[in-house]
Amino acid sequence: MSSKSILTDKHIILGVTGSIAAYKACALASRLTQHGALVDVIMTESATRFVAPLTFQALTGRPVYTTMWQTDASGGLGTHIAHVSLAHEADLLLIAPITANMMAKIAHGLADDLLSVTALASANRCPILIAPAMDVGMYENPVTLANVDILRSRGVRFAGPGSGRMASGLEGLGRFIEPDEIAGHCRRVLGMNGSLAGRRVVVTAGPTREPLDPVRYLTNYSSGKQGFAIAQAAVDAGAVVTLITGPVSLPTPIGVERVDVLDTRSMLDAVLVHATGDDPTDALIMAAAVADFRPEEIAERKIKKTQDPASMQIDLTYNPDILYEVSRQTRKPLLTVGFAAESDDLIAHAQEKLARKSLDMIVANDITAGDAGFAVDTNRVVFVMSEGIEELPLMSKEEVAQRIVAWVAEHQM
Ligand code: C5P
Repeated sequence: MSSKSILTDKHIILGVTGSIAAYKACALASRLTQHGALVDVIMTESATRFVAPLTFQALTGRPVYTTMWQTDASGGLGTHIAHVSLAHEADLLLIAPITANMMAKIAHGLADDLLSVTALASANRCPILIAPAMDVGMYENPVTLANVDILRSRGVRFAGPGSGRMASGLEGLGRFIEPDEIAGHCRRVLGMNGSLAGRRVVVTAGPTREPLDPVRYLTNYSSGKQGFAIAQAAVDAGAVVTLITGPVSLPTPIGVERVDVLDTRSMLDAVLVHATGDDPTDALIMAAAVADFRPEEIAERKIKKTQDPASMQIDLTYNPDILYEVSRQTRKPLLTVGFAAESDDLIAHAQEKLARKSLDMIVANDITAGDAGFAVDTNRVVFVMSEGIEELPLMSKEEVAQRIVAWVAEHQM
């Protein structure tokens, strides 16, 4: 189920310059288009030596501009002032990949091709995000680094570069980062003035893992998808996000500070550090499926198979309840949202938890439904608040995340 995101209906100008990484800009254009963005591509002359304009046109279904001098549909602009209007209408000017040459031009205000003209005309009209791609020697040349400083000081935002192997065979800084990461940077930049701009949000996600011996542990089926989607939705709304997560295999949303933990007690420590104390967070959203109990003793050595049934017993003890511990702190988050995964009496159990854990809202879901809850991509939840409940229809976890973040933004203090 595809859902709307911060990228949907956004007008992005994608500038592509002459780097071998231009081929990766095709995947980027495709990804942004799949998210519903309207992507108009401007290619420099040298970029067209690496990739054909037709490739971008086919991927975006929109015009591709390659020159200032033609005023027809074959790569030119409709009118002589269209280069200015391109920048006026855009929500974001993304240049990916950007060469050292184009960075130098933009840093010094040169405007001798359609892309540099558009960048110059975009000042104060739309944010500029650049993803450098060049050989390590070019990137680390003092003249390029000075241009990086100039661009940063003027508010240009950077996506990378990364470090690693280059087409030349050399290794180092200057590598074009992956298209998905660049799309994540676009989200961060587009969301920066959103409904949670400047607010701090701590999100927990995933399962916790309770060790039994050096090779075994107790855990649950949580995939972390819902919590990660909430962290992304909070970034999209402009929040400063810390994501405290148990062991999951999901990429970290761009712009999120990720704190990895294993067991419940270390998740509690991390939550207390990041959400409470002298400078408590604005909102804490506890989406983690925290293990309620753990083996009373962790065996130092691997437990051996034995014929004696009595020695096969595992004694369990309760873990601390993180939300309850947070509620007992003197300085706590302004808003706290919990989750309740239930298999019966959904609303009644959620209401009881709302009160016991001193929550502002609880997101309740029935884990017996096959299309909602653990490890699937959709969820059907009920928002339970002291003033009443709101039942949401079946929707993607991304949409559930957006609804939770919207609720937080509406109720922020
Ligand atoms: O009591 P129950 O585990 O159903 O509560 C679920 C909510 O409480 C979730 O938000 C979960 O992250 C949180 N929780 C917690 N500490 C625990 C268990 C659950 O904070 N030990």
